[in-house]
Amino acid sequence: MNIILLGPPGAGKGTQAKRLIDKYGIPQISTGDMLRAALKEGTPLGLEAKKYMDKGALVPDTVVIGLVKERIQQKDCAKGYMLDGFPRNVSQAESLDKMLTELGQKIDYVVCIEVPNDELVGRLTGRRTCRSCGGGYHVMFDPPKKEGVCDKCGGELYQRDDDNETTVKSRLEVYSNQTEPLIDYYEKQGKLHRINGVGDMGTIFDRITAVLG
Ligand code: AP5
Ligand code: MG
Repeated sequence: MNIILLGPPGAGKGTQAKRLIDKYGIPQISTGDMLRAALKEGTPLGLEAKKYMDKGALVPDTVVIGLVKERIQQKDCAKGYMLDGFPRNVSQAESLDKMLTELGQKIDYVVCIEVPNDELVGRLTGRRTCRSCGGGYHVMFDPPKKEGVCDKCGGELYQRDDDNETTVKSRLEVYSNQTEPLIDYYEKQGKLHRINGVGDMGTIFDRITAVLG
């Protein structure tokens, strides 16, 4: 089963993906996480991507398309995968369709998690992420037992550089101008499922699994 998780910054794509991995046994492929990992390693690709990410802009298509093409051919993707944060504009979606046709694959479901902008800002500025295991938290909505420490692995929690109010506003604009057209794109393919992303995380998970089966 190949899934796309679509939705604005802070919609809960990463939060839900972590839960879906356990239920369906397929990996999450987050282009944002891959770019942050490249930056942490200090690779030229990571350093180049940082220039765009810090502004809340999209990294050039060729970079992310290359990353995804390589990743989906790895062994752990044989039974399927969840794309989180890719595609992010029509050109990436067209490249993905072409790539999948060549590989004899297709997207089965596009799950679009919908949350109003005023809620997204609070979610993003309060997000904390574990440096070691990538676990996600929120200072108010999903706090760790001990401040600054991951419940699961004891790692240090940090705030993403792009989770400040100014960059969040740019990211939301980029979403509405460049990514939102994908809703139409996948609706025309008959693959789009809209999920109300407001409510507690477990309820939203149930809404998604009701679609995926
Ligand atoms: P990326 O890492 O993909 O960020 P994003 O799309 O902006 O999405 P987020 O990760 O911020 O949100 P999320 O939906 O995963 O929310 P989460 O579950 O963490 O991309 C970052 C950057 O990389 C881009 O700006 C771009 O520069 C570059 N990039 C990445 N992919 C690219 C591509 N394909 N092309 C070009 N450039 C690319 O939840 C957020 C918070 O809310 C958490 O604290 C969580 O605990 C909380 N929360 C979750 N659900 C709920 C709930 N139901 N109620 C209350 N709180 C909740
Ligand atoms: Mg995410």
